[in-house]
Amino acid sequence: MTNVLFVCLGNICRSPMAEAMFKKMIAEQHLEQQIFVKSVATSSEEFGNSPHPGAQAEMDKHALNYAGHTSRPITKDDFKWADLIIGMDSQNIHQLKRIAPSQEDLNKIKLCYDILPDKQGVEIADPWYDHRFDRTYRQLSETLPHWLDFIKN
Ligand code: 4NP
Repeated sequence: MTNVLFVCLGNICRSPMAEAMFKKMIAEQHLEQQIFVKSVATSSEEFGNSPHPGAQAEMDKHALNYAGHTSRPITKDDFKWADLIIGMDSQNIHQLKRIAPSQEDLNKIKLCYDILPDKQGVEIADPWYDHRFDRTYRQLSETLPHWLDFIKN
């Protein structure tokens, strides 16, 4: 069993899209009993809010299910629950490392693009200002299948 936690700043754009995409991939491969997925924020800025309308439109385009998702900040229990904590950009990683309750938790924290050896340090760009939700989807499509392979192996 592997618990995967996707994290971004607001939990209304990138991490809910990552959660929905990963869940779809897991369902397609019949791994629902083995891999569990959640997403959370590093901030309380968007607490209680649904995904951004632009993120919803992009997810609708790809038949992704985000029903019932609302933003919430990460908790100590999330750190304990997760086996893998995947942040979208370096600011997320910095924040996560700052608040990680234990050394063991620190080791769970990964940057999404770091699964690709030739793209170390690349960020899932924040779509907040330019509304490029298509880029978010493309970048997640490039990285998430490799995380699933990593977990399976
Ligand atoms: P996300 O996008 O971290 O991908 O959910 C953002 C959401 C909210 C803000 C920034 C980015 N904000 O500044 O409130």
